[in-house]
Amino acid sequence: MQVVVLTGAGVSADSGVATFRDAGGLWEGHRPEDVATPEAWAADPALVWRFYQARRAALAVVEPNAAHLALAAFERRAAARGHGFTLITQNVDDLHARAGSSAPIHMHGELARLRCERCGAVRRDTTSVDPERFVTCGAPGCGAGALRPDVVWFGEVPYRLDEIARALADCTHFLAVGTSGAVYPAAGFLAEVRRRGARTWIQALEPPDNLDASDRFVPGRAAEILPELLDELCR
Ligand code: APR
Repeated sequence: MQVVVLTGAGVSADSGVATFRDAGGLWEGHRPEDVATPEAWAADPALVWRFYQARRAALAVVEPNAAHLALAAFERRAAARGHGFTLITQNVDDLHARAGSSAPIHMHGELARLRCERCGAVRRDTTSVDPERFVTCGAPGCGAGALRPDVVWFGEVPYRLDEIARALADCTHFLAVGTSGAVYPAAGFLAEVRRRGARTWIQALEPPDNLDASDRFVPGRAAEILPELLDELCR
């Protein structure tokens, strides 16, 4: 088997991390164009910074849930049986790694990373979370202004698409967990592997936008459903 798992905000919902498009989600409180685009960062960096600093600070008070742990355990089982496993996440939280997943591909970047737009320096930082204080680049000779969150904003190119394309090309078993299938290119992965003949499972609270009759939809909360669903996928 060559298993590819794609996760979205729903996998972290049971850890208390807000999703985007559910009732009460992040995009109810903020318009994406005001806080999640390069134009927003240029126009009002203080507003964008406050939005991300609140999410960065929240990393310290959330824990991986049973869904994250089940995925990490499944990865170990798959490796022990000689199967291929790739975890791709749209999430910018660090819960997959903290649950033990060995190499999650963060295609939308990570809240725990800050990046300098002038010199490209990237640093891991989860402690500078004051919403009113920018973090400046300390790289020798850079002297740039504020570091930005190293997350992929609307209109920007997601990270590691080449690696993702290779994993999708070999995929025989695809599972999407907790994603609405609303944002491309991630939303297109399902059709791509389905075209290639992979078996497809979708786990979420409600059917995602990109569901097809041939996909196996498994409704419910990931923390409750995933442990058993992953056992089934192994069979
Ligand atoms: N268990 C399983 N699924 C859940 C749970 C849960 N406890 N709670 C919510 N969900 C599902 C919802 O049914 C929905 O399908 O998670 C999905 C959340 O959808 P979105 O909020 O749109 O999140 P996501 O699909 O990850 O968004 C994709 O959009 O705004 C951008 O960059 C952002 O990475 C994000 C991308």
